Amino acid sequence: MKTGKLVVIVGPMYSGKTSELIQFVEIYSLGKKKFKAFKPVIDDRYDDTHIVSHTNTKVKAFPITNPEEIKNKISGDESAVFIDEIQFFSENLAEVIQELIFNGIDVYCSGLDLTYKNNPFKTTSLIMSYADEVIKKKAVCHECGEYAGTISYKIVENGGEIDVGGFDKYIAVCRNCYVKLKGGNSYE
Ligand code: ADP
Ligand code: TMP
Ligand code: MG
Ligand code: ZN
Repeated sequence: MKTGKLVVIVGPMYSGKTSELIQFVEIYSLGKKKFKAFKPVIDDRYDDTHIVSHTNTKVKAFPITNPEEIKNKISGDESAVFIDEIQFFSENLAEVIQELIFNGIDVYCSGLDLTYKNNPFKTTSLIMSYADEVIKKKAVCHECGEYAGTISYKIVENGGEIDVGGFDKYIAVCRNCYVKLKGGNSYE
């Protein structure tokens, strides 16, 4: 038996992570390969039972709370597993993914690498360490229009580092504009 591969898609909000994940789903779907897709229950932004991109492409997915639930849903004949919004899961997701790839299942996942405070999301960092391929996406900076957006910036005051939302709460910016918006040029 061949082991599976792990592909991780990261970047700020609106950088096309979910769209790219859905493109990989299509490749397996066209090849008539079996797969299952998962998303965190907490992500109820567009739909409860589908992974949905900001341009409204979608794929049916199991909403789960605990990464262990992925193992319960797997029958063993899947060629691939797809997981969106990995930043919302506990670090145990990395263990579950390892088990899948060592059992011959390809895993494609996507999520934020950084919080709006420019802190790494731990689960994403951990999974990136195990990846065969990390695809780092960029967004168009909301402030200067350059294709250099690497950080999500929060435009509202309320909520912490875990706070589901979209255009109502966040914009994507480049590092220079992030510094300007924060009102200084220092690293904190
Ligand atoms: P992500 O999952 O990374 O948030 P999606 O794949 O859901 O991204 O959506 C990407 C789409 O969002 C782009 O194809 C584009 O149509 C749209 N979009 C909106 N704002 C931006 C932006 N600032 N930069 C790039 N794309 C944007
Ligand atoms: P997206 O990358 O597909 O646009 O979705 C990112 C989700 O993560 C969205 O629901 C907003 C949320 N989020 C946080 O919870 N904390 C953060 O620091 C950031 C930037 C986003
Ligand atoms: Mg997304
Ligand atoms: Zn900018």
